[in-house]
Amino acid sequence: MTSKLLVVYQSRSGGVQKIVDAFISGVTLAAEQATRKITVLSQHPFDTVAADVIAAHAVVVATPEHFGSMAGATKHFFEEIWHECLEETVGKPWQLIVKAGNDGTGAVQSVERLVTGLQWAKFRPPLQVIGDITETDTNSAVELGASLAASIELGLV
Ligand SMILES: Cc1cc2nc3c(=O)[nH]c(=O)nc-3n(C[C@H](O)[C@H](O)[C@H](O)COP(=O)(O)O)c2cc1C
Repeated sequence: MTSKLLVVYQSRSGGVQKIVDAFISGVTLAAEQATRKITVLSQHPFDTVAADVIAAHAVVVATPEHFGSMAGATKHFFEEIWHECLEETVGKPWQLIVKAGNDGTGAVQSVERLVTGLQWAKFRPPLQVIGDITETDTNSAVELGASLAASIELGLV
């Protein structure tokens, strides 16, 4: 049995990319031990359509904070999928990752407010990385990915 994990992310200067890479390495590590195969589809918000979300077992949204909110491309993704997903994806497990220069709260709030409308099921509280990325941050991302993969394997999400 295969589960699809969709990771939708934007990264201009590499910060979100680094966290997403760590997250996916955690997924891959955990999935190696699992009987249930997990396929990760990681792509830019502009390349993502409602069918990708509907087909996914779980969705990870990773965004920088831009001007006190989610990045424009992330907002475009939600605008694009909104109507098709509104009824189709209620209860979809999801995880938020935010990378910001010095704040991050606006990005978290803007995404969470929107996803409340979609009625997705939050896996863990948002992973927020503020400022320079430390080893603790990448380790947290690896652990989060491994934890999500293990939860999918165990049928907990
Ligand atoms: C146009 C723009 C707007 C930004 N606005 C904010 C902001 O409102 N709050 C904040 O904490 N960081 C802000 N930042 C910093 C980014 O969130 C931070 O550099 C982040 O690491 C970018 O992710 P990336 O490296 O994946 O592109 C902004 C950066 C850019 C380019």
